[in-house]
Amino acid sequence: MAIADKPECTPRYKVLFVSSELYPFVKTGGLGDVSGSLPKALKSLRQDIRVLIPAYPSALEKAKTIKPVATINLPEEGFPGNMGFSSDIGQIPYVTILETKLPGSHVKVWMVEFTIYNRSGGPYLDDSGNEWIDNDRRFALLNYVAVEIAMGHTSLDWHADIVHGNDWQTGLIAALLHLEKKKRNAFSIPASVFTIHNMAHMGIYSKSQFEALQLNPSLWNHHELEFHDNFSFMKGGLVFSDRVNAVSPTYAKEIQTEEFGYGLAGLLKFRNERLSGILNGIDMQEWDPAKDPMIHKNYSIKTIKNKQLNKIALQKHFKLPLTRPDHKDILLLGMVARLVYQKGVDLLLEQMEAILELPVQIAILGSGDAKLESRLKQWSIKYPKQIQLQIGYDEELSHLIEAGSDAFLMPSRFEPCGLNQLYSLRYGTIPIVRDTGGLADTVIHASKEHITLNTATGIIFHETHHSNLFDAVNLTATLYRDKTVWKNLMVNAMKQVFSWRESAKQYLDLYTQAIKDKKADDY
Ligand code: ADP
Ligand code: GLC
Repeated sequence: MAIADKPECTPRYKVLFVSSELYPFVKTGGLGDVSGSLPKALKSLRQDIRVLIPAYPSALEKAKTIKPVATINLPEEGFPGNMGFSSDIGQIPYVTILETKLPGSHVKVWMVEFTIYNRSGGPYLDDSGNEWIDNDRRFALLNYVAVEIAMGHTSLDWHADIVHGNDWQTGLIAALLHLEKKKRNAFSIPASVFTIHNMAHMGIYSKSQFEALQLNPSLWNHHELEFHDNFSFMKGGLVFSDRVNAVSPTYAKEIQTEEFGYGLAGLLKFRNERLSGILNGIDMQEWDPAKDPMIHKNYSIKTIKNKQLNKIALQKHFKLPLTRPDHKDILLLGMVARLVYQKGVDLLLEQMEAILELPVQIAILGSGDAKLESRLKQWSIKYPKQIQLQIGYDEELSHLIEAGSDAFLMPSRFEPCGLNQLYSLRYGTIPIVRDTGGLADTVIHASKEHITLNTATGIIFHETHHSNLFDAVNLTATLYRDKTVWKNLMVNAMKQVFSWRESAKQYLDLYTQAIKDKKADDY
């Protein structure tokens, strides 16, 4: 029995979980999904967990009931710099903490309300797709507030045992806690855990921005925040957190190599003993083909035939020729992704001509790089009966694509964990993935051996050679023609369980370890 299963010895921590995204309030990718589901799983393990995000207007709109519970004054001098108010207006600038709950749970959510979050657009980009020019200040403020709450310096009557940050937007928290240790009893400071969802985004800003934020100058050195004459938020999380984890075991290893470490592989190798990998889970209620209200017809392993009705609904949505019982069936490939280099969209484009010679249809939902979007669009104009594309973000359609596709394309160049292949497995939609990160950790290739043993769940290809993707799709089309093999694949996939429960227990162990490590370091 795992520790967390025994109520009498389950530790109970006060956890402040800090993120820039939180489904259903704000989501641009998997970070939103994780923030919306891991805290719920930790709550069900009896943890006192609070989630902290900025009060983006779009998030406020989605919160049913929300109330102010505290205000926090910003320092007149020192970090996080002058946040747009000068003291000559005669008023100390302050943020308001608004409280709501994660829908369908008792998890408390605190949103930080302040002028710099109060604008339309996304969490990182404006309406035209350009980065907000003050993202350093936006997230520095979030980090400052996190530390104030975690240290119990607010009227919230709560302090944290653990501060759990996610990705670069929270990377300064551990650096600030480190500075706090110099000011007061180090044992009174919470331990920190930092989760790497994507090393490709490191929050790099200039020396003048460092100065404008009024970060403590002692942090400006190669061993701490400085990064090639700039500074990096991410580096702060990696250097100062008591424990660091990546979102899959394979990615935790990959980031210690030059190719995936983006200049920080050496640091990660150095901190190897404090670095681990914990695979993401999925929200089994939100992504359940038997109950999903966003799909055309619910189904389970027992009623797997009904999946076909979702395929027809999906073809109708995309105006692709319909599959009819009297027609030869055609393999429908789905894809939902941020259309960026990471996701291997260019590999797909390179191989499109050859892939479209196979008996396949392709339905894509995504947005991102304008060039990639327009190159995909051109293929859909040239071959409208085979490939269709919807540019934009559409939560409901993403569920229908998972339910209605036969197979799911995920040719990522790198993938820290990936959630879509996990949703695909649950929906009996066979993932076609590259052998990297969390994809390698969650999909079992349909080799002859695995087919014979009846353990295969998907198709894996190696290297980013273009022809390898073609070969993978070709193999999928061949397997699809053998209805017995295909049905076994679907059933095996649907039997996989990637719930949060197991992973949440691993996070709990990580918290325990972080507290121990911090104690040992503080002595
Ligand atoms: P990443 O976080 O790198 O984008 P993941 O596979 O971890 O990749 O998670 C992506 C999440 O974002 C999934 O829930 C996916 O369905 C969703 N998603 C991505 N693009 C879109 C889109 N255009 N419309 C709706 N959902 C999307
Ligand atoms: C990142 C990664 C993705 C991962 C997600 C949630 O956005 O790109 O692979 O699944 O975070 O951890």
